[in-house]
Amino acid sequence: MKVRTESGTQELRAVWFENGHLRLIDQRRLPQTLSIVETADWRRATEMIRDMTVRGAPAIGITAAYAMALALRAGEDAATAATYVKSARPTAYDLFYAVDRIVAACAAGADPAAAANAYADEIVEKCRAIGLHGARLITDGMKVMTHCNAGALATGDWGTALAPLRVAHDEGRRLFVYVSETRPRLQGMQLTAWELVQEGIDHAIIPDGASARYLSDGVGLVITGADRIAANGDFANKIGTLDKAILARHFGVPFYVAAPVSTFDPNAANGQAIPIEYRAEEEVTCLAGQRLAPTGSRALNPSFDVTPGELVTGFITERGIFPPGHLPA
Ligand code: MRU
Repeated sequence: MKVRTESGTQELRAVWFENGHLRLIDQRRLPQTLSIVETADWRRATEMIRDMTVRGAPAIGITAAYAMALALRAGEDAATAATYVKSARPTAYDLFYAVDRIVAACAAGADPAAAANAYADEIVEKCRAIGLHGARLITDGMKVMTHCNAGALATGDWGTALAPLRVAHDEGRRLFVYVSETRPRLQGMQLTAWELVQEGIDHAIIPDGASARYLSDGVGLVITGADRIAANGDFANKIGTLDKAILARHFGVPFYVAAPVSTFDPNAANGQAIPIEYRAEEEVTCLAGQRLAPTGSRALNPSFDVTPGELVTGFITERGIFPPGHLPA
Protein backbone atom coordinates (compact mmCIF):
# COMPACT_ATOMS: atom_id res chain seq x y z
CA MET A 1 0.00 0.00 0.00
CA LYS A 2 1.05 3.59 -0.46
CA VAL A 3 2.07 5.34 2.74
CA ARG A 4 2.81 9.04 2.72
CA THR A 5 5.65 10.04 5.06
CA GLU A 6 7.59 13.26 5.52
CA SER A 7 10.31 11.87 3.25
CA GLY A 8 7.86 10.94 0.47
CA THR A 9 5.61 8.04 -0.48
CA GLN A 10 6.70 4.49 0.29
CA GLU A 11 5.21 1.06 -0.44
CA LEU A 12 4.49 -1.00 2.65
CA ARG A 13 2.66 -4.16 3.56
CA ALA A 14 0.53 -4.26 6.70
CA VAL A 15 2.19 -7.50 7.88
CA TRP A 16 5.51 -9.05 6.84
CA PHE A 17 8.47 -11.16 8.01
CA GLU A 18 12.02 -9.84 8.22
CA ASN A 19 15.19 -11.12 9.88
CA GLY A 20 13.31 -13.81 11.77
CA HIS A 21 10.73 -11.32 13.10
CA LEU A 22 7.06 -10.75 12.39
CA ARG A 23 6.59 -7.05 11.66
CA LEU A 24 3.30 -5.26 11.37
CA ILE A 25 1.65 -1.86 11.43
CA ASP A 26 0.07 -1.22 14.83
CA GLN A 27 -3.48 -0.49 13.67
CA ARG A 28 -4.52 0.72 17.12
CA ARG A 29 -2.34 3.81 16.73
CA LEU A 30 -3.51 4.98 13.32
CA PRO A 31 -4.20 7.55 12.01
CA GLN A 32 -2.21 9.56 14.56
CA THR A 33 0.98 7.46 14.44
CA LEU A 34 2.41 5.04 11.91
CA SER A 35 4.13 2.61 14.24
CA ILE A 36 5.72 -0.72 13.29
CA VAL A 37 5.85 -3.38 15.99
CA GLU A 38 7.77 -6.64 15.81
CA THR A 39 8.18 -9.94 17.60
CA ALA A 40 9.91 -13.28 17.19
CA ASP A 41 7.66 -14.85 19.83
CA TRP A 42 4.69 -16.81 18.47
CA ARG A 43 2.61 -16.30 21.62
CA ARG A 44 3.16 -12.53 21.39
CA ALA A 45 2.16 -12.69 17.70
CA THR A 46 -1.06 -14.42 18.77
CA GLU A 47 -1.61 -11.72 21.38
CA MET A 48 -1.35 -9.08 18.65
CA ILE A 49 -4.35 -10.69 16.94
CA ARG A 50 -6.26 -10.92 20.23
CA ASP A 51 -5.68 -7.28 21.22
CA MET A 52 -6.34 -6.02 17.68
CA THR A 53 -2.89 -4.61 17.04
CA VAL A 54 -3.67 -6.33 13.74
CA ARG A 55 -7.26 -6.93 12.63
CA GLY A 56 -9.23 -7.63 9.46
CA ALA A 57 -9.82 -11.24 8.43
CA PRO A 58 -7.11 -11.78 5.77
CA ALA A 59 -4.49 -9.84 7.80
CA ILE A 60 -5.39 -11.93 10.85
CA GLY A 61 -4.82 -15.01 8.66
CA ILE A 62 -1.41 -13.79 7.50
CA THR A 63 -0.38 -12.96 11.08
CA ALA A 64 -1.56 -16.38 12.22
CA ALA A 65 0.51 -17.99 9.45
CA TYR A 66 3.61 -16.18 10.77
CA ALA A 67 2.73 -17.03 14.38
CA MET A 68 2.63 -20.69 13.37
CA ALA A 69 5.92 -20.34 11.48
CA LEU A 70 7.56 -18.85 14.58
CA ALA A 71 6.13 -21.63 16.76
CA LEU A 72 7.35 -24.40 14.46
CA ARG A 73 10.79 -22.81 14.12
CA ALA A 74 10.95 -22.76 17.92
CA GLY A 75 10.22 -26.50 17.99
CA GLU A 76 6.70 -26.22 19.43
CA ASP A 77 4.28 -29.07 18.89
CA ALA A 78 2.18 -28.16 15.81
CA ALA A 79 -1.18 -29.25 17.24
CA THR A 80 -0.64 -27.39 20.54
CA ALA A 81 0.47 -24.20 18.78
CA ALA A 82 -2.43 -24.44 16.29
CA THR A 83 -4.99 -24.68 19.10
CA TYR A 84 -3.46 -21.67 20.85
CA VAL A 85 -3.24 -19.47 17.74
CA LYS A 86 -6.80 -20.38 16.71
CA SER A 87 -8.07 -19.20 20.10
CA ALA A 88 -7.09 -15.58 19.36
CA ARG A 89 -10.44 -14.51 17.86
CA PRO A 90 -13.52 -16.56 16.94
CA THR A 91 -15.18 -15.12 13.85
CA ALA A 92 -12.69 -14.51 11.01
CA TYR A 93 -12.42 -17.80 9.09
CA ASP A 94 -9.04 -16.80 7.62
CA LEU A 95 -7.47 -17.43 11.04
CA PHE A 96 -8.44 -21.11 10.98
CA TYR A 97 -7.76 -21.52 7.25
CA ALA A 98 -4.26 -20.03 7.55
CA VAL A 99 -3.23 -22.11 10.57
CA ASP A 100 -4.37 -25.33 8.88
CA ARG A 101 -2.56 -24.37 5.67
CA ILE A 102 0.78 -23.82 7.48
CA VAL A 103 0.44 -27.01 9.53
CA ALA A 104 -0.26 -29.01 6.35
CA ALA A 105 2.56 -27.38 4.37
CA CYS A 106 5.11 -28.01 7.13
CA ALA A 107 3.89 -31.59 7.64
CA ALA A 108 4.65 -32.06 3.94
CA GLY A 109 8.20 -30.79 4.50
CA ALA A 110 7.99 -27.05 3.77
CA ASP A 111 10.16 -24.58 5.65
CA PRO A 112 7.80 -22.74 8.11
CA ALA A 113 8.90 -19.20 7.23
CA ALA A 114 8.81 -19.96 3.50
CA ALA A 115 5.31 -21.42 3.86
CA ALA A 116 4.07 -18.35 5.73
CA ASN A 117 5.69 -15.98 3.22
CA ALA A 118 4.06 -17.91 0.37
CA TYR A 119 0.71 -17.68 2.17
CA ALA A 120 1.05 -13.89 2.61
CA ASP A 121 2.03 -13.42 -1.05
CA GLU A 122 -0.90 -15.56 -2.15
CA ILE A 123 -3.45 -13.54 -0.14
CA VAL A 124 -2.07 -10.22 -1.40
CA GLU A 125 -2.21 -11.51 -4.99
CA LYS A 126 -5.80 -12.70 -4.45
CA CYS A 127 -6.77 -9.26 -3.18
CA ARG A 128 -5.22 -7.67 -6.27
CA ALA A 129 -7.33 -10.02 -8.40
CA ILE A 130 -10.43 -9.04 -6.39
CA GLY A 131 -9.58 -5.45 -7.28
CA LEU A 132 -9.35 -6.23 -10.99
CA HIS A 133 -12.67 -8.12 -11.05
CA GLY A 134 -14.50 -5.64 -8.84
CA ALA A 135 -13.28 -2.53 -10.66
CA ARG A 136 -15.56 -3.50 -13.56
CA LEU A 137 -18.50 -2.52 -11.33
CA ILE A 138 -17.21 1.00 -10.73
CA THR A 139 -18.28 3.60 -13.28
CA ASP A 140 -16.83 7.07 -13.69
CA GLY A 141 -18.33 9.51 -11.18
CA MET A 142 -19.85 6.75 -9.00
CA LYS A 143 -20.56 7.24 -5.31
CA VAL A 144 -19.74 4.13 -3.27
CA MET A 145 -20.44 3.30 0.38
CA THR A 146 -18.30 1.02 2.52
CA HIS A 147 -18.25 -0.06 6.16
CA CYS A 148 -15.48 -0.86 8.65
CA ASN A 149 -12.01 -1.37 7.16
CA ALA A 150 -11.55 -3.88 4.38
CA GLY A 151 -8.53 -2.19 2.84
CA ALA A 152 -4.81 -2.92 2.65
CA LEU A 153 -4.42 -2.77 6.44
CA ALA A 154 -7.00 -5.54 6.83
CA THR A 155 -5.49 -7.82 4.19
CA GLY A 156 -1.72 -7.27 3.88
CA ASP A 157 -2.15 -5.10 0.78
CA TRP A 158 -4.81 -4.03 -1.76
CA GLY A 159 -7.75 -4.82 0.48
CA THR A 160 -10.95 -6.66 -0.32
CA ALA A 161 -13.75 -4.06 -0.44
CA LEU A 162 -11.28 -1.25 -1.13
CA ALA A 163 -9.31 -3.10 -3.84
CA PRO A 164 -11.86 -2.42 -6.63
CA LEU A 165 -11.93 1.25 -5.62
CA ARG A 166 -8.14 1.44 -5.69
CA VAL A 167 -7.95 -0.19 -9.13
CA ALA A 168 -10.72 2.02 -10.54
CA HIS A 169 -8.99 5.11 -9.13
CA ASP A 170 -5.63 4.01 -10.58
CA GLU A 171 -7.36 3.54 -13.94
CA GLY A 172 -8.49 7.17 -13.83
CA ARG A 173 -12.16 6.82 -12.88
CA ARG A 174 -13.49 9.50 -10.54
CA LEU A 175 -15.25 8.18 -7.48
CA PHE A 176 -16.47 9.32 -4.11
CA VAL A 177 -16.53 7.05 -1.05
CA TYR A 178 -18.90 7.34 1.91
CA VAL A 179 -16.95 5.86 4.83
CA SER A 180 -19.17 4.91 7.75
CA GLU A 181 -17.32 5.57 10.98
CA THR A 182 -18.00 2.05 12.38
CA ARG A 183 -18.74 2.38 16.06
CA PRO A 184 -17.53 1.30 18.52
CA ARG A 185 -13.90 0.86 17.40
CA LEU A 186 -14.07 3.32 14.50
CA GLN A 187 -12.21 1.23 11.91
CA GLY A 188 -13.97 3.22 9.16
CA MET A 189 -13.07 6.66 10.45
CA GLN A 190 -9.56 5.78 11.61
CA LEU A 191 -8.35 3.15 9.12
CA THR A 192 -10.40 3.27 5.91
CA ALA A 193 -10.27 7.07 5.79
CA TRP A 194 -6.51 6.95 6.44
CA GLU A 195 -6.02 4.51 3.56
CA LEU A 196 -8.12 6.65 1.22
CA VAL A 197 -6.02 9.68 2.14
CA GLN A 198 -2.86 7.70 1.33
CA GLU A 199 -4.32 6.69 -2.06
CA GLY A 200 -5.70 10.15 -2.82
CA ILE A 201 -9.30 8.88 -3.20
CA ASP A 202 -12.06 11.42 -2.56
CA HIS A 203 -14.22 10.50 0.44
CA ALA A 204 -16.14 11.66 3.49
CA ILE A 205 -16.67 10.01 6.85
CA ILE A 206 -20.33 9.67 7.83
CA PRO A 207 -21.91 8.65 11.13
CA ASP A 208 -23.15 5.05 10.99
CA GLY A 209 -26.68 6.39 11.45
CA ALA A 210 -26.42 8.46 8.24
CA SER A 211 -26.37 5.42 5.94
CA ALA A 212 -30.08 5.66 5.04
CA ARG A 213 -29.72 9.35 4.32
CA TYR A 214 -27.03 8.75 1.71
CA LEU A 215 -28.26 5.42 0.35
CA SER A 216 -31.49 7.21 -0.52
CA ASP A 217 -29.59 9.89 -2.38
CA GLY A 218 -27.28 8.79 -5.16
CA VAL A 219 -25.06 5.98 -3.84
CA GLY A 220 -24.46 3.64 -6.78
CA LEU A 221 -22.93 0.69 -4.95
CA VAL A 222 -22.21 -0.65 -1.46
CA ILE A 223 -19.09 -2.80 -1.01
CA THR A 224 -18.07 -4.43 2.25
CA GLY A 225 -15.63 -7.13 3.23
CA ALA A 226 -16.51 -10.27 5.17
CA ASP A 227 -15.11 -12.17 8.13
CA ARG A 228 -16.74 -15.51 7.34
CA ILE A 229 -19.03 -16.57 4.50
CA ALA A 230 -21.30 -19.60 4.86
CA ALA A 231 -22.08 -22.01 2.03
CA ASN A 232 -25.52 -20.44 1.39
CA GLY A 233 -24.07 -16.91 1.12
CA ASP A 234 -24.96 -15.69 4.62
CA PHE A 235 -21.93 -13.81 5.89
CA ALA A 236 -20.56 -12.27 9.08
CA ASN A 237 -19.05 -8.81 8.91
CA LYS A 238 -18.55 -5.85 11.22
CA ILE A 239 -21.62 -4.89 13.23
CA GLY A 240 -23.74 -2.49 11.19
CA THR A 241 -23.29 -4.33 7.90
CA LEU A 242 -26.74 -5.90 8.13
CA ASP A 243 -28.33 -2.46 8.47
CA LYS A 244 -26.64 -1.32 5.26
CA ALA A 245 -27.64 -4.45 3.36
CA ILE A 246 -31.30 -4.02 4.34
CA LEU A 247 -31.20 -0.32 3.47
CA ALA A 248 -29.47 -1.01 0.16
CA ARG A 249 -32.23 -3.48 -0.78
CA HIS A 250 -34.89 -0.94 0.25
CA PHE A 251 -33.38 1.81 -1.90
CA GLY A 252 -32.46 -0.47 -4.83
CA VAL A 253 -28.69 -0.06 -4.42
CA PRO A 254 -26.52 -3.08 -5.44
CA PHE A 255 -24.74 -4.62 -2.43
CA TYR A 256 -21.46 -6.48 -3.05
CA VAL A 257 -19.20 -8.42 -0.68
CA ALA A 258 -15.50 -8.75 -1.51
CA ALA A 259 -13.45 -11.61 -0.04
CA PRO A 260 -10.84 -14.20 -1.00
CA VAL A 261 -11.78 -17.89 -0.81
CA SER A 262 -9.90 -18.10 2.52
CA THR A 263 -12.95 -16.34 4.05
CA PHE A 264 -15.44 -18.92 2.73
CA ASP A 265 -16.15 -21.54 5.40
CA PRO A 266 -17.24 -24.75 3.65
CA ASN A 267 -18.28 -26.24 7.00
CA ALA A 268 -20.81 -23.50 7.80
CA ALA A 269 -24.07 -24.35 6.03
CA ASN A 270 -25.61 -20.98 6.89
CA GLY A 271 -25.12 -17.92 9.08
CA GLN A 272 -26.34 -19.65 12.24
CA ALA A 273 -23.14 -21.73 12.21
CA ILE A 274 -20.90 -18.64 12.37
CA PRO A 275 -19.54 -17.88 15.88
CA ILE A 276 -19.94 -14.22 16.76
CA GLU A 277 -17.44 -12.43 18.96
CA TYR A 278 -18.73 -10.25 21.80
CA ARG A 279 -16.24 -7.70 23.05
CA ALA A 280 -15.86 -5.61 26.19
CA GLU A 281 -18.67 -3.25 27.23
CA GLU A 282 -16.10 -0.48 27.62
CA GLU A 283 -15.68 -0.26 23.84
CA VAL A 284 -19.24 1.09 23.80
CA THR A 285 -19.46 3.00 27.07
CA CYS A 286 -16.13 4.82 26.73
CA LEU A 287 -14.65 7.09 24.09
CA ALA A 288 -10.88 7.73 23.93
CA GLY A 289 -10.51 6.02 27.31
CA GLN A 290 -13.12 8.14 29.06
CA ARG A 291 -16.44 6.73 30.26
CA LEU A 292 -19.36 8.72 28.86
CA ALA A 293 -22.21 6.35 29.78
CA PRO A 294 -23.93 6.71 33.14
CA THR A 295 -22.60 4.59 35.97
CA GLY A 296 -24.98 1.67 36.24
CA SER A 297 -25.74 1.36 32.50
CA ARG A 298 -24.70 -1.84 30.78
CA ALA A 299 -23.74 -2.13 27.12
CA LEU A 300 -24.01 -4.90 24.53
CA ASN A 301 -21.12 -5.18 22.11
CA PRO A 302 -21.49 -7.80 19.40
CA SER A 303 -18.52 -7.28 17.11
CA PHE A 304 -20.21 -8.77 14.03
CA ASP A 305 -23.65 -9.31 12.55
CA VAL A 306 -24.80 -11.87 10.00
CA THR A 307 -26.33 -10.67 6.75
CA PRO A 308 -28.54 -13.13 4.82
CA GLY A 309 -27.09 -14.10 1.45
CA GLU A 310 -30.34 -13.11 -0.24
CA LEU A 311 -29.45 -9.44 0.35
CA VAL A 312 -26.15 -9.79 -1.53
CA THR A 313 -25.99 -8.87 -5.21
CA GLY A 314 -22.66 -10.63 -5.70
CA PHE A 315 -19.49 -11.90 -4.05
CA ILE A 316 -16.32 -10.46 -5.57
CA THR A 317 -13.56 -13.07 -5.26
CA GLU A 318 -10.19 -13.66 -6.88
CA ARG A 319 -11.96 -16.10 -9.22
CA GLY A 320 -14.57 -13.61 -10.40
CA ILE A 321 -17.97 -12.33 -9.24
CA PHE A 322 -20.54 -14.88 -8.05
CA PRO A 323 -24.19 -14.50 -7.02
CA PRO A 324 -25.16 -16.07 -3.68
CA GLY A 325 -25.93 -19.74 -4.21
CA HIS A 326 -23.19 -20.03 -6.85
CA LEU A 327 -20.22 -19.56 -4.58
CA PRO A 328 -16.72 -20.76 -5.58
CA ALA A 329 -16.03 -24.35 -4.52
O1 MRU B 1 -13.02 -6.66 14.29
P1 MRU B 1 -12.23 -6.43 13.03
O2 MRU B 1 -11.76 -5.04 12.83
O3 MRU B 1 -11.16 -7.48 12.84
O4 MRU B 1 -13.35 -6.69 11.95
C1 MRU B 1 -13.09 -7.18 10.74
C2 MRU B 1 -13.26 -6.16 9.73
O5 MRU B 1 -12.41 -5.35 9.55
C3 MRU B 1 -14.45 -6.09 8.96
O6 MRU B 1 -15.52 -6.82 9.39
C4 MRU B 1 -14.12 -6.20 7.50
O7 MRU B 1 -15.14 -5.61 6.81
C5 MRU B 1 -13.89 -7.61 6.99
S1 MRU B 1 -12.24 -8.12 7.10
C6 MRU B 1 -11.50 -7.51 5.62
